[in-house]
Amino acid sequence: MSKKIKKIGVITSGGDAPGMNAAIRSVVRTCAFHTIKCVGIYRGYEGMIEGDFKVLSARSVNNIINKGGTILKSARCDEFRTKEGRQKAHLQIKKAGIDALVLIGGDGTFTGGMIFNKEFNFPVLGIPGTIDNDIYGTNYTIGYDTALNTVVECIDKIRDTASSHKRLFFVEVMGRDAGHIALNAGVGAGAEEILIPEEDLGLDRLLESLKRSKQTGKSSSIVVVAEGDKIGKNVFELRDYVEENLVEYEVRVSVLGHMQRGGSPSCFDRVLASRMGVKAVESLLNGKSNYMVGSINNKMELTPMGKAVKAHSKINKELLRVSDIMST
Ligand code: F6P
Repeated sequence: MSKKIKKIGVITSGGDAPGMNAAIRSVVRTCAFHTIKCVGIYRGYEGMIEGDFKVLSARSVNNIINKGGTILKSARCDEFRTKEGRQKAHLQIKKAGIDALVLIGGDGTFTGGMIFNKEFNFPVLGIPGTIDNDIYGTNYTIGYDTALNTVVECIDKIRDTASSHKRLFFVEVMGRDAGHIALNAGVGAGAEEILIPEEDLGLDRLLESLKRSKQTGKSSSIVVVAEGDKIGKNVFELRDYVEENLVEYEVRVSVLGHMQRGGSPSCFDRVLASRMGVKAVESLLNGKSNYMVGSINNKMELTPMGKAVKAHSKINKELLRVSDIMST
C-alpha cells in the first residue's frame, strides 16, 4: 500500500440516507486499522468551506451503526458550485493536513467531488449513499433497502384503512428522476398501478385499469406514484382526474415524504455500508482516485465517478410486467 496518504477526510453530502452512519463508522475504523488518521467533515461541502472538521478515532463512532441520518450532518451547498467556494474548501483541507477524501452521497456529491479532484488534483473516492438507487456502477445504494422497507410498511398500513373504507389511495413516494423506490415498493406492497419517471403509462390506461379493478370485484386499490412520474401530474391532480372520470371511486392521497429517509438502517444497508467503507479507504491507500465503490453481483467494484454520475442506473422493466400480472 502507498505510504503517501496519512490522513483521510470523510464527508456526507446531499440528501441523507439510512446507513450513512454505518459507512462513516466503516471509513473511520478502516483508517484506524491501517493506522492512518481520519477527519470528519461536518455539514457537507458547506462545512468543508468553513473548516468544520473533527478528528475521529475508532471510538468516536461507537454505537452509530444502528442510527439513521448522519452524525456528520449534511447540506446541499451552492457555494461549492463556485470556483471561489472550492478554493476556500481546498485551503481548509490543506490546513488540516488531509490527503484524500471519502465522499458519501449521490450524484450531486460526486459531481462536486470530481470537479474538486480535477481542479486541485486531489484524491477522492465515492460511496453511493442515497435512497433513490439511481447511481450507475452499483446494484444498490446505501439507504435504498431501508427506504423500501419503510415504504412497504407504510403502504401496508394504508391498505388497512383503504380496504376498510373501500377507497382508492394515491401514495406518493420519493424519486424525482428515478422510479426504483416506486417500482420495487409498489410490487412489494401489492399496488394496483405504479407510476414512475421512466415510463409513461398514460392516463387512459390508468383509468382502464381502475375500471377493470372495480369490475373484477376489487373494493379498494393502491396506486404508487413516484414524485417525478412521467404522466406529469402530481398525486393531487391524479386524484381530481380520477374523481372526475370515475365517479364510483372515493379517492384519498398520502404523501410519504421525508419519513422515507429516516429510521434505523436495515441489516442489508449496514453490511453494504461496512463493505463499501473498507473498499473506499483501501482503494485510496492503493493509489486509486476519482472512482466510486459499488456492489456489483455482490462484489465490491470500482467505477469511474464520471460514469457513475452520467450513466444512471436502469429500472428493472421485468417488474413492470410482474406488477401488471399481479394486478389482474
Ligand atoms: O435524492 C434523494 C431525495 O430524497 C429524492 O428522492 C427527493 O426528491 C429529494 O432527495 C428531496 O430533497 P430535499 O430533502 O432537499 O427536499
